[in-house]
Amino acid sequence: MFLEDTIQVQAGGQARGYTIRVRPGIRRALPRMIPAHARAHRYAVIADETVGELYGAQIVGGLEGEGKVARLFTFPPGEASKTREQWARLTGEMLDAGFGRDSAVVAVGGGVTGDLAGFVAATFMRGIPLVQVPTSLVAMIDSSVGGKCGVDVTEGKNLVGAFHPPHLVVVDPEVAVTLPVEERAQGLAEAVKHGAILDPVYLADLEGDIPCVLGGEVGATGRVVVRSIEIKAEVVSKDERESGLRKILNFGHTLGHAVEAAAHYALPHGSCVALGMVLEARLGERLAITRKGTADTLRKMAGLLNLPTTVPAGLRAETILGYTRSDKKGRQGKPRYVLLAYPGAVAQNEDWAREVPDEIVLEVLAEASA
Ligand SMILES: NC(=O)c1ccc[n+]([C@@H]2O[C@H](COP(=O)([O-])OP(=O)(O)OC[C@H]3O[C@@H](n4cnc5c(N)ncnc54)[C@H](O)[C@@H]3O)[C@@H](O)[C@H]2O)c1
Ligand SMILES: [Zn+2]
Repeated sequence: MFLEDTIQVQAGGQARGYTIRVRPGIRRALPRMIPAHARAHRYAVIADETVGELYGAQIVGGLEGEGKVARLFTFPPGEASKTREQWARLTGEMLDAGFGRDSAVVAVGGGVTGDLAGFVAATFMRGIPLVQVPTSLVAMIDSSVGGKCGVDVTEGKNLVGAFHPPHLVVVDPEVAVTLPVEERAQGLAEAVKHGAILDPVYLADLEGDIPCVLGGEVGATGRVVVRSIEIKAEVVSKDERESGLRKILNFGHTLGHAVEAAAHYALPHGSCVALGMVLEARLGERLAITRKGTADTLRKMAGLLNLPTTVPAGLRAETILGYTRSDKKGRQGKPRYVLLAYPGAVAQNEDWAREVPDEIVLEVLAEASA
């Protein structure tokens, strides 16, 4: 049974936190909630074309019903739209439509929309209020919390952006029902990560909840979204700018990102993270830092999600290792890894992340190759 939850996130020091509200059906209350948290004269509701049609028009109509000026701005769905060109086009359309400093942005959609519309809000007239209405599980569980936004450039993903914490995040687990099942699995990979780094009980519960969430059960979706948001909110509240603790959210991501880049982004992020977690657990086991059996636990979870647990054919271990060196979280070109102590806890050291000798990374990659 899941009814509702409210989670508070600290941002920008103690000066301005924000609230995340999770409740089935809450999207219908948005036209009243948005103006109460982000006061503005005009609302730019930004969504991709798919989500715009499903939910965006309804939100615009609701805001107009409350006497507000609101307009829907859309862009083609997919990562290919997370660009400076779309950012410039959306900003230009808002200016042409008379939007000014007294406006707010409502980002309705997946992580692409949150990042792109968030960056529009961060830069429009040097920053206007933002409300996040995440509709994909990736966005509900991960990207709508933490204040990071931005776009991809030819040199790499997410390389141009800003910190722009929202004024409010509203999550309606019912909207995940229209999300394709493979997209649900992508978001759940990050939920497994949250359990793996901080909460053994959540990780164990996920085993039962994963099939229900994949099956579109609203109660299980709400429970998982709330626990994941709580974990991410706890971490980013303590370390908004990633100088310390926030690094633990990169578990599975050093090798995950390297596989993603080596495969030229043909494999989605959640799939690469599922594989990255298994591989990084193996690294930890090799170094006798991670308890034996941890990699097997994570492999089982990835299996439940139907996500990869072996390195895709055609990707060479040396190529993947090469891509770890361009990871932007590395120090002076040396990649760093977050290692677990056991499923549900990170092995603590002075910096949360550590270097691992190349030979061990190559061995683990070779062993896991199909
Ligand atoms: N800012 C952060 O902290 C952060 C964290 C994680 C990921 N991200 C970013 O998030 C992006 C990935 O997000 P994503 O996986 O949500 O991608 P996405 O926004 O492209 O959404 C995936 C697909 O699902 C569709 N969709 C979304 N909600 C739907 C719904 N309720 N019903 C039907 N269809 C729906 C979209 O139209 C799209 O086709 C990446 O760009 C990644 O870099 C950012
Ligand atoms: Zn991730």
